[in-house]
Parts: sequence; C-alpha cells; structure tokens
Amino acid sequence: MRGARILGTGRALPQRVVTNADLMKSMDTTEEWIVQRTGVRERRFVDPGTGSSALGTEAAKAAIAASGIAPGKIDFIVFATVSPDWFFPGGGVFVQDKLGLPTIGALDVRTQCTGFLYGLSVAEAYVKGGFFDHVLVIGSEVQSTGLDMSTAGRDVSVIFGDGAGAAVVGPAEPGKGILSSHMHAEGKYAKDLMLEAPASIEHPRLSHEMIDAGRHYPKMNGRYVFTHAVRRLPEVIREALAANGLSMGDLSLVIPHQANLRITQAVAAALQVPAEKVFSNVEKYGNTTAASIPIALDECVEQGKIREGDLVCLAAFGSGFTWASTLLRW
Ligand code: COA
Repeated sequence: MRGARILGTGRALPQRVVTNADLMKSMDTTEEWIVQRTGVRERRFVDPGTGSSALGTEAAKAAIAASGIAPGKIDFIVFATVSPDWFFPGGGVFVQDKLGLPTIGALDVRTQCTGFLYGLSVAEAYVKGGFFDHVLVIGSEVQSTGLDMSTAGRDVSVIFGDGAGAAVVGPAEPGKGILSSHMHAEGKYAKDLMLEAPASIEHPRLSHEMIDAGRHYPKMNGRYVFTHAVRRLPEVIREALAANGLSMGDLSLVIPHQANLRITQAVAAALQVPAEKVFSNVEKYGNTTAASIPIALDECVEQGKIREGDLVCLAAFGSGFTWASTLLRW
C-alpha cells in the first residue's frame, strides 16, 4: 500500500487582537488569573460577517499554494469545525464554492478539538487506499460569536479564539508521511464540555426561554476536562509510538492541541520530555478548537522546527470526550 503525507500547510488568523485587558471590560476577571490558569495572553476575533468557512478558505488557499499542486487536483474536502456558518449545510460545501472547485465531495467532521486529527485520518485512509490522490483537510473556528462575554461565562470565554489551519494530503512512499492515526471517544462525558442549543431534541430547537437560561452558550466542567486531558494525551501519544515500534527518544516534536498552557506543560512532564519538544502558541491565539493543531503545525513548518526525516506527533483532547494522535515521519 502506498503512503500518505502532508504536502503543504496553511493558516488564517483574523486581524483583530483581543487582549485579556479587553475581556476585563465586559467580565469580572484579571490578566493574572487568565495567564496563570491558561497561559493565554491574547486571542484573535473575527469582525462581524466572517464565518468559519471564510477563514477556512483562506487557510486552504495557503495550504494548496504550499503544496505546489494545482487547486484542480484536489479530489475531496474534509472540514472540521464546531462552529459552521449555519446549522446546515456544513462548512465544507461553502469552502468548495469559495475555492471555485468542481463538484468534488465535502465532508464535515464534528469531533470538536480532535476534529482536525479525525479529518486527517480520513484523508490518510483515502490516499493510502488509492481512493483519492489529494485531500484537503481544514480545521476552522469562529468561537467568538458564540461565547458568553459576561462574568457568568468567564471560565469558558477567556480560553477560546478564532482561526483556521489546513493541510493538503497526497501520496508518499510507504513508511513516509503519516505513519498512523489513533482515535478514541468516551461519550459518557459529553455533558462535561458541550453546547446544547440549538438542539434537535427540543421543539423549537431554540426558544427565548433557552436563550434566557444561557443554553446557547458552551458549558465546561473545567477541572474534569483538565484531569482527563492530562491522562489521555500522554496515553494516546504512547499508543502511536508503540504501534510503530518507536519510543519517546525517537520523537523530534509533539504538537498538542492548544487547550491551555498548563495542560501542555503537564503533558511534557508526563512524557518526561523537555518543554521545548512540546510546541505551544496558546498565548497568542487561545484555544481555537479544531484549528489549533493545523495552525501550530503551519507555524512549526514556517519556523523551521520540523525538518525532513523528523518524527512528529500530533495529539488532541476535547469535548466528547474525544482524543486522538497522528504520528508523522516528515
Ligand atoms: N477570571 C477570574 N476568575 C475566574 C475565571 C476567570 N476567567 N473563571 C473562573 N473563575 C473563578 C471561579 O469562579 C472560581 O471562583 P470561586 O473559587 O470563588 O468559586 C475560581 O476562579 C476557581 O475556579 P475553578 O474552576 O476551580 O478554577 P480552576 O483552577 O479549575 O481553573 C480552568 C479553571 C478552566 C482554567 C481549568 O479547570 C482548566 O484549565 N480546565 C481545562 C479547560 C480546557 O482546557 N478546556 C478546553 C479543552 S479542549
């Protein structure tokens, strides 16, 4: 069977920088609390009218340019998001239209912070199996329009930001590129990080009462999420290494989902790897959910942190709970 590798990456961040001091204008919080608990110093928010498909399209254009292939060679789109422009259709079809691509398929992935890695595994399988040659995988989020910016929502709202990242996956020699993907879910914890409404189990899906009760805002059991993340991330990274007969010493770089800095530091400690081997940019962008890994990957490529032959592990944990890893030989 042929291999599959990432041919090019790209990212798109809104221009508007929102600092912790900006958040203090609408909620009771402090710079110290946010930085100490999360490591986030600023995040980017879109201006009204920009949705996740627009950001995703910008990131996709950059990834296609970096891959060196003509846009017409893209066979399929995988679009990971928790914040589609509309309730339906999903965002992938908007990206297809905005890129001016022909009637190729567009699949939305809804696995929250692990969305990009689940999406990458779809691309990996299609390309390795010979079903498609080039698959565009995008993670894109506009979180800012869905956050409670009052004190009631401060535990969640200080963490999240907007952004998009993308990768083009194409054929490779066997044993090069994406070595393996590992995905898990544990739905019994769905209520510990979720956004309920609009809800199809309610009629109507969104009512004034639901809005008054704040059920259209995300809810998080922060401590619970933290505890599970610091256990599952090292576990799924070890699983990827073991599946390929490799060990921690072989790893050049870990790119974890940028949930928050304390989680990233706890993962480095659990893996017993130096902090510089675990990439972090959460201080600039906050947690951008499905976009965080492809944004981080693109920055690592740009900054020369990944060289040919390096072993890189991508790992994510998030709502569901879901968690996943992807092992790459660059
Ligand atoms: N500013 C100031 N105070 C805040 C605050 C904010 N933005 N958010 C919460 N607080 C307050 C709480 O109200 C609480 O006050 P109380 O003690 O008077 O009740 C206090 O800070 C401590 O809250 P707590 O929730 O116990 O804090 P914590 O130490 O667990 O930290 C998180 C909260 C969210 C930072 C932490 O649980 C965490 O990092 N969780 C993982 C979250 C995550 O990464 N989610 C995304 C996963 S993909």
